[in-house]
Amino acid sequence: MSPRIVLLPGDGIGPEIIGPAVKVMNAVGAELDYEERLFGGASIDAYGTALTDETLDACRQADAVLLAAVGGPRWDTTDPDKPRPEQGLLGLRKGLGLFANLRPVKPIPALYDSSPLKRELIDRTNLLVVRELTGGIYFGEKTRTRDRASDDCVYTRSEIERIAQVAFRTARSRVTSVDKANVLETSRLWREVVREVHGREFPNIELEHLLVDNAAMKLIAAPRHFEVILTENMFGDILSDEAAMLTGSIGMLPSASLGDGQPGLFEPVHGSAPDIAGTGQANPLAMILSAAMMLRHGLGMETQAAAVESAVERALAAGLRTRDLGGTANTKQATQAVLKHL
Ligand code: IPM
Ligand code: MG
Repeated sequence: MSPRIVLLPGDGIGPEIIGPAVKVMNAVGAELDYEERLFGGASIDAYGTALTDETLDACRQADAVLLAAVGGPRWDTTDPDKPRPEQGLLGLRKGLGLFANLRPVKPIPALYDSSPLKRELIDRTNLLVVRELTGGIYFGEKTRTRDRASDDCVYTRSEIERIAQVAFRTARSRVTSVDKANVLETSRLWREVVREVHGREFPNIELEHLLVDNAAMKLIAAPRHFEVILTENMFGDILSDEAAMLTGSIGMLPSASLGDGQPGLFEPVHGSAPDIAGTGQANPLAMILSAAMMLRHGLGMETQAAAVESAVERALAAGLRTRDLGGTANTKQATQAVLKHL
């Protein structure tokens, strides 16, 4: 039986970029069974909630979930009682227990000049953000009255241990743990537990601690310094967008969210880009590279994953540039270029 994949196109450019990813997987010979579901704003419009129980169940029973993007001005609200598309994403991450978010950042030489940073600065950068995804301020208790609001930030020892283990296991030589231990109590526990896991299980990997403000600066000043960045939920969210600019465009960055045996979730780091939705101009490369991560981490199809990644690189080397990269190629042309190099 072929592995079963739930496709969640979501909103905005989502439906325009998920088709290209499926085309590329077909072309690389990955035989998969797809089931498509409404998600995010599209699901709010149809069912009044961003993630229905049926969709969550379908995802639980699948071998992997491929998600494009959610959100848009249509559903933007500051009313705490109205549903938001992002709740679907958070519900899915939590519901599937996907605590480990992997965001590789490896600028492609053909795109060095698309980055706002100097070529010699980004040259040979190859880092991985390991972001804790189901804890911290994203999931703590929230309160709201007319004049006061709060978001609780909570981390437990076991939550920190398991994400630290993912980071150390993935690292070849160095893990940089990022926190705000000079201010936050959660960060002090974070630092203590990361240190313990390191000493007990991974003494041969170098461990350094950086405060998040300093890490944000160093990421731009000396990106090559980093190999694996281990950090909590919100710091990881912010640092991964920052790191995306090393590659020239956030339209290039894929991600994998993994749990402990549950089906993984694979999605681009970028959002639903409502400003260009419907124009056919979206860059599908992060989506296609997310499908490659699904083949590798979710389905154990390393050969096919590597073939897709190499086709993307060669298409770029041959001159493919979508609008976000300063070129004119539309979604269709970008997909064709990747297929041609497969
Ligand atoms: C991301 C996104 C999400 C996050 C939003 C859409 C909830 O920014 O995946 O980085 O903050 O985690
Ligand atoms: Mg983000």
